[in-house]
Amino acid sequence: MNTTENIYSLYKCRVLRVYDLIEDVKLLLFRFENPDIAESWTCKPGQFVQLSMPALGEVPISICSSPMRRGFFELCIKKTGRVTDKIHELKPGDFVGVRGPYGNGFPVDEFEGSDLLLIAAGIGMAPLRSVFMYAVDNRWKFGNITVINSAKFGNTLLFRKELEAMRDVAEAENIRIIQTVTRDPDWPGRVGRAQEHIKHANTDPEKTYVCVCGPPQVYEDVFNTLIKNNYDPRKIYVTLERRMKCGVGKCGHCIAGTSTFLKYICIDGPVFGYYDIISTPGLI
Ligand SMILES: Cc1cc2nc3c(=O)[nH]c(=O)nc-3n(C[C@H](O)[C@H](O)[C@H](O)COP(=O)(O)OP(=O)(O)OC[C@H]3O[C@@H](n4cnc5c(N)ncnc54)[C@H](O)[C@@H]3O)c2cc1C
Ligand code: FES
Repeated sequence: MNTTENIYSLYKCRVLRVYDLIEDVKLLLFRFENPDIAESWTCKPGQFVQLSMPALGEVPISICSSPMRRGFFELCIKKTGRVTDKIHELKPGDFVGVRGPYGNGFPVDEFEGSDLLLIAAGIGMAPLRSVFMYAVDNRWKFGNITVINSAKFGNTLLFRKELEAMRDVAEAENIRIIQTVTRDPDWPGRVGRAQEHIKHANTDPEKTYVCVCGPPQVYEDVFNTLIKNNYDPRKIYVTLERRMKCGVGKCGHCIAGTSTFLKYICIDGPVFGYYDIISTPGLI
């Protein structure tokens, strides 16, 4: 929290652009209405906001743009129910309320000087895009970078076109972009699950930080493959989703773990290290 001491402050934001990404998923670009907030509001890759729709309620959504873009931010939103359905009706010029940023975010300062491997499955590319864009904006701070973006079908690969457009230039900058699908016979590119492409990354396992995001069922296989390929478990981070209400550690909706070892996803996370994940029952 950096603009004010009040953790519940609600900022008025204007929708500037709406893009259709894949079926039921839109990317929205927002700008803060108040110029002082626009100037002072900052966030870290991996943090989230509570996006509020008047008279309906609010939903936690990961920031998916680079924190380097002052005054603006992007959210990638899948239509899943009451509030997100209404968000999908927003048009440029409409207003919403935003609280945050909340959560710990990825420890990007610790990542500096190391290689970076980002592994996304499905909508998991949304929070990882923020880390990726941050690393691109601060290219000199990181070593080699690989992004593995995976989905079932070519037309459900999130940010497919954006990543495709960057691929050739990126390779010259030692950034490798791998997009792979599991169930699309018409897809001309790479096939297989994300973990099957870890061996194609340009990263050195001994000096790489890994960020993973995807549905719960992918984690075990991804972790096993990383460890088998000599990636250091202490440098593996995951960002998680949970039903949330307050977003600031007050309501208890997002708790995981046991009565003696509790984790609040909203304030202890949503980014957790590998050892937190394996030692906290119910975290994934
Ligand atoms: C830290 C965090 C970051 C998130 N980032 C994103 C993001 O970048 N983009 C995005 O599209 N969504 C994200 N989500 C999920 C998003 O918050 C939910 O989809 C949203 O709250 C659903 O609200 P609704 O009113 O539209 O749906 P509801 O009407 O409340 O629910 C509709 C259906 O969605 C399920 N659902 C609701 N919330 C969640 C949840 N948190 N996880 C899994 N299933 C859920 C319900 O069980 C129900 O089946 C994030 C959640 C968290 C906690
Ligand atoms: S969402 Fe209220 S405590 Fe985490």
